[in-house]
Amino acid sequence: MQRPEVYLLLSVTLCLIKLGRTDGGFCSAPSILDSETASKPLYWKVTNPTLSPSHLQDLPGFTRSVYKRDHALITPESHVFSPLPEWTNTLGAYLITPAMGSHFVMYLANMQEKSKSGLPPHDVERIIFVVEGTVTLTNASGFGSKLGVDSYAYLPPNYEHFLMSDGSATLVVFERRYAALENHITEHIVGSTDKQPLLETPGEVFQLRKLLPTSTPYDFNIHIMDFQPGEFLNVKEVHYNQHGLLLLEGQGIYRLGDSWYPVQAGDVIWMAPFVPQWYAALGKTRSRYLLYKDVNRNPL
Ligand SMILES: *[C@@H]1O[C@H](CO)[C@@H](O)[C@H](O)[C@H]1NC(C)=O
Repeated sequence: MQRPEVYLLLSVTLCLIKLGRTDGGFCSAPSILDSETASKPLYWKVTNPTLSPSHLQDLPGFTRSVYKRDHALITPESHVFSPLPEWTNTLGAYLITPAMGSHFVMYLANMQEKSKSGLPPHDVERIIFVVEGTVTLTNASGFGSKLGVDSYAYLPPNYEHFLMSDGSATLVVFERRYAALENHITEHIVGSTDKQPLLETPGEVFQLRKLLPTSTPYDFNIHIMDFQPGEFLNVKEVHYNQHGLLLLEGQGIYRLGDSWYPVQAGDVIWMAPFVPQWYAALGKTRSRYLLYKDVNRNPL
């Protein structure tokens, strides 16, 4: 018989025999070096990513990045940094922009020594989340807040402010044109993930925090979602909202449409409205991701 299934069965059997004998045969799951990351700062993997498996890291032309009509996976080897307009000593990589179909931008800002942010365009709101380093946020009254890793700041449209950094710092930034509603305004907010309460997630096992108030003035939110290895989304969502996602920790499989992608910390995902989506956390450590979601507005 020449059928491929027979070969598959044969090789799996051989593999199991080999595994039984040698421990560490080619069909065993690669061990993830917990000790390597355990001693590192939070979100270290985002700014120090490796390709998986590591022997493919320098393979010419190899990338896990994918760009399709209704989703994109942008992995770290595809990030292209260039000076951010309006910012000083800062390199930025735009990862999601309206050219893909989104109504927001998502970018990484690598602030260097003596760097300073610029303002977003008129009527555009901004949220920044610190992935690495420390930045100082100053507003028009000269009031300064220090923001370390895991801290964030929401800046309403036309809110005067600047961020400064003395050393190197990495931020993930989301901006969108504010969908204004009569008699509603947003307030500027400074916070950190660990200060946000855990929210109910009926029917789900993951842990959920939200960085912004859920009230009407806010036209988007940022969700921080934690999964232990083996946990997965129960719901197989298809919805009108769009998403920008940064995997902060861990690894797993993301389903987008009919494609199933192995993903790990540092990966960015664009999800257009109505793309079927689902996640399962794998590996040996917690998965944590940060997720932009538009809310509170009539889609018409
Ligand atoms: C600057 O921030 C401080 C502290 O949150 C606040 O009291 C002050 O009103 C802010 N200034 C402006 C112009 O928004």
